[in-house]
Amino acid sequence: MTYEHHDYDVLIIGAGGAGLRAAIEVQQRGLRVAVITKSLLGKAHTVMAEGGMAAAMGNVYPEDNWQVHFRDTMRGGKYLNNYRMAELHAKEAPERVQELEQWGALFDRTKDGKISQRDFGGHRYARLAHVGDRTGLELIRTLQQKVVSMGTDVFMEHKVLTLIHDSEGRVAGCVAYQRPTGEFVTFAAKAVVLATGGAGRSWKFTSNSWEGTGDGHAMALWAGAELIDMECIQFHPTGMVWPLSVRGLLVTEGVRGDGGVLRNSEGQRFMFNYVADMFRAETADSEEEADKWYDDHSAGRRPPELLPRDEVARAINTEVKAGRGSPHGGVYLDIGSRRSAEFIRRRLPSMYHQFMELAGVDITKESMEIGPTCHYIMGGVKVDADTAATSVPGLFAAGEVAGGMHGANRLGGNSLSDLIVFGRRAGMGAADFVEGYQGSPRLDEAAVNAAVEESLAPFEREEGENPYDIQRDLQEMMQANVGIIRTRSELEYAISELDSFTERVKNIKVKGGRAYNPGWNLATDLPAMISVSKCVARGAVLREESRGGHTREDFPQASAEFATFNFAHSSPAKRWDGEIVTERSALLEMPGELKALLEEGH
Ligand code: FUM
Repeated sequence: MTYEHHDYDVLIIGAGGAGLRAAIEVQQRGLRVAVITKSLLGKAHTVMAEGGMAAAMGNVYPEDNWQVHFRDTMRGGKYLNNYRMAELHAKEAPERVQELEQWGALFDRTKDGKISQRDFGGHRYARLAHVGDRTGLELIRTLQQKVVSMGTDVFMEHKVLTLIHDSEGRVAGCVAYQRPTGEFVTFAAKAVVLATGGAGRSWKFTSNSWEGTGDGHAMALWAGAELIDMECIQFHPTGMVWPLSVRGLLVTEGVRGDGGVLRNSEGQRFMFNYVADMFRAETADSEEEADKWYDDHSAGRRPPELLPRDEVARAINTEVKAGRGSPHGGVYLDIGSRRSAEFIRRRLPSMYHQFMELAGVDITKESMEIGPTCHYIMGGVKVDADTAATSVPGLFAAGEVAGGMHGANRLGGNSLSDLIVFGRRAGMGAADFVEGYQGSPRLDEAAVNAAVEESLAPFEREEGENPYDIQRDLQEMMQANVGIIRTRSELEYAISELDSFTERVKNIKVKGGRAYNPGWNLATDLPAMISVSKCVARGAVLREESRGGHTREDFPQASAEFATFNFAHSSPAKRWDGEIVTERSALLEMPGELKALLEEGH
């Protein structure tokens, strides 16, 4: 069969911050580049990083530097991080932020006209460059404008089904379909950059919108790459819990960064009761001390609300389970009694409107009801830190789809800076690969036809299951059994359930035509959701300890044995329904001078 076809040097799948930043780099090298997105340009989970991008610019606290940022990131990730990624990120983030400003990003300013920086959990200094609480949106707006002005080709509403290899085992492109028409399209390219974001849609309560189905994670796995740290899922402590229709929608950590505090139904500021030993020396133990810190970081210790996200989410979960939650199953987040209405509307305009319009709550006067929401997956494709190359020739990955940078838990604000640091590096890595490329990429035609046929099978069946029923059951199952707190028996149940979901997906029936058919779109998303969920559950049952975003009730402590490796998943059959093999993969050995930064407690 022949389909509409396009040839490029570099193909970028995903149009969030990482994909757009990669595209700019490739375009600047004079190569032919296209960006494919299954959604619309500008509509990416990047916008859900609201509060800011972390970069040790020292604009508010001159004593900040890359070494402290590196240490905070490694500590936040509970030392499971790829140290080289954390090092590059801490060193390069300030320059990337300045570059965004040169490209037109309108950051908030300090009194003396520098880019303003706000506090976030786990960062020793106020370090997040921000645009009110719409920082991700400004990042996307700026990069999008740059990409459009450079003339990069953008294919919107193209859902990529799978990557396609050439006869030498290199990735040679992909096959996709256009959502508005249902017509298939093939793309050949010398290098492919995955920048597809996360996988939060496999959980019931999530900040991710419909795009976050783990497509890039799954396509990399099926193409022969490895996925690491998949058990490490970030439940952001503050999502809306009410009204139910918007449960999971993000409430930025900027609320706490700007002075908001958490209280239970008894009015108690409960986070003081949940300070882990590793953070005790630097965390305030009274409200008075905590409050002083907001005005002067040298005058006291950090408020416990600004512990890393994994710590805060677990504490909220415990309060709710103990019966001290709010009426809709969350706790209270209060900024209205602590800051002026003018301050709140200026610094947190989206939060003000979000609560006013969706919940009828005026956050300048009333507390918000919030609870944890699945926000981010730390796990992802194993890449080389410097080049973003995967183990599959021609395949690169950057942003949330790549693993290693954040270890077991990501610090808030480190995502936007990750996107621009490693988006650029992926663009450079792909461009270098193309410059050394011999021949021209040729798609394996049989593989293209097989992918097309498999995607059309749900139309052919006489009868079968509705994909929405499978999605609902998957989300409920993952929320209940692979959530914030995990046990062996629940995880084993999840693993066996995922096998039955695999069979159910093979029996999906889709009605209607191919043009703009969301049921068909979901049917083509589900194989990725199942593959990714299997890796998460497998990693979670094998990691017999608690670390970062992975908490085991039956193994509540971190274990020295598990501190030395990641779990790496691969698919020998290179198929969504094939066996997954999970193995230990040793962490990179950190050079002495970086180890010293951690030990000296810079
Ligand atoms: O809370 C937030 O604004 C989210 C930021 C992030 O995930 O980095």
